[in-house]
Amino acid sequence: MLNTREMIAFTEDRLARAQEIIAQYPEGRQKSALLPLLHLAQEQHGWVSAKVMDYIADMLGIQPVEVYEVATFYTMFHLEPVGKHVIEYCRTGPCCVVGGEGVYDHLKERLGVSANQTTSDGMFTLKEVECLAACGWGPCFQIREKFYMHLDNTKVDQIIDELSK
Ligand code: FES
Repeated sequence: MLNTREMIAFTEDRLARAQEIIAQYPEGRQKSALLPLLHLAQEQHGWVSAKVMDYIADMLGIQPVEVYEVATFYTMFHLEPVGKHVIEYCRTGPCCVVGGEGVYDHLKERLGVSANQTTSDGMFTLKEVECLAACGWGPCFQIREKFYMHLDNTKVDQIIDELSK
């Protein structure tokens, strides 16, 4: 059982929401709440630490490794602290053939980071991802629920300028 200090994984309102989510599943199927609980935790903390994964495992009555397996499988979960804006850049074939690699190089140079790094001001984290299901509109990246499509170097500069304000 986790001690009181560690029971800070969810704020009071999120804890209530987590309990509502868990209650939606039939007895013995609480493990099905794992993905929504990971999203809830990331929404609060900005990332999902090992301690938070242990906490979720404890809530669901499952082994911590079961939580680690899921959290490490999906690229949308951040397993380290991230910047204010997480840029998920598509590096799959269809985007690459329409200039995605050149734009990606420009973006890295503009930010001064490589993949999985955060800018020194904490504003941007760059992640490489597989297809974002916007293949006809590449090159593209996603920041939270927003897609940025038909990117070129000029558009990238405009987006970074705008988000840096
Ligand atoms: Fe880039 Fe599908 S290949 S969105």
